[in-house]
Amino acid sequence: MAQIVSFIIQKGGCGKTTTTANTAGYLSMQGFRVLCVDMDAQGNLTQHLGYDNESLEKTILHLFQQKASFNEVVLRRSENLHLLPNNLETAGAEFQLYHSLSREYLLRDVLTPVQANYDFVLIDCPPSLSLFSVNALAASTEFILVVAPEFFPMKAIKPLYETYQMVKQKLNHTLQFNGVIMTMCDFRTKHSQEVYRILKKNFPHKLYKNYIRTNVTLKEAASCGQTIFEYDPFSIGAFDYQNFVEEFIRDHHKNIQKRKFYQQKFESLSPEEQKQLIIFTKRNLSQYNRSRLDIDPENQVLQEAFIVERNKLLEKLFPYRIHSLSENLE
Ligand SMILES: Nc1ncnc2c1ncn2[C@@H]1O[C@H](COP(=O)(O)OP(=O)(O)O)[C@@H](O)[C@H]1O
Ligand SMILES: [Mg+2]
Repeated sequence: MAQIVSFIIQKGGCGKTTTTANTAGYLSMQGFRVLCVDMDAQGNLTQHLGYDNESLEKTILHLFQQKASFNEVVLRRSENLHLLPNNLETAGAEFQLYHSLSREYLLRDVLTPVQANYDFVLIDCPPSLSLFSVNALAASTEFILVVAPEFFPMKAIKPLYETYQMVKQKLNHTLQFNGVIMTMCDFRTKHSQEVYRILKKNFPHKLYKNYIRTNVTLKEAASCGQTIFEYDPFSIGAFDYQNFVEEFIRDHHKNIQKRKFYQQKFESLSPEEQKQLIIFTKRNLSQYNRSRLDIDPENQVLQEAFIVERNKLLEKLFPYRIHSLSENLE
């Protein structure tokens, strides 16, 4: 099942699109199967990956409107890098989509059937907390805040954090806050230093150690429709994004290990213990998910929510750090 990551901040010009495109570029080069989703009607990600928005026959809008199939819309840029493109037509249709049934789940319903075909789905969010951003969060397993030091970041982060909590409570129980990446840093300026200090103070365990420096080559790559790794793999931009994505992947591998560890723990319990744990897990699920799970036990999204809740309970019984360490020593 793909890890679905939203790159988000409700402000333009912070490096969301650049980060999505280059993260996708690096992950796909490493052999991961990546689907990029352009949720911004400006279509900047679509352009960054080399497509002309205006000449697209089908976009993600047609998926939301159920007027096209995934295969008709997806652009296969390379074997490992696919894209759901967007253009301005979507902006015009937002109001109409507002009236769709399950309007917050338009993207999730698109991704659920194809999620197993990818290792990562990376979503480039629009610069607002609109219906499309809520859709991105409702479909994601996690999100990354993209912060550039040209404004006072906590001001923007607060309403975003409230949106996250609302989405987590009402729409997507298993959504996680992955971290904060700082882009366009220039530590010769006081402002960059100050913003870094604020982020470090507010997110001591969430701020990525690797940050992205200001580097004009990133802009040039975007205007040529290439990732930085295609345009100039020896640039500072390529170096910074490689380091960031390596840090991101280390997290990913850790999560996979942890999940495996708790799956094995669960299987090692007696049938009676397993039964008890399932009862407790169900109690911890939101009322909404619980009732849907009874009706539709095969639903992958609900199963995922169930496993995340179950593992949280298991973690209380078997703290991961201690056990994984002792197992490594054996
Ligand atoms: N690290 C960087 N150094 C220099 N320019 C950058 C950097 N990151 C992004 N840019 C440029 O800044 C502009 C805004 O970046 P973008 O990724 O489109 O932000 P957002 O998606 O948040 O609006 C683009 O022209 C992009 O090429
Ligand atoms: Mg953008």
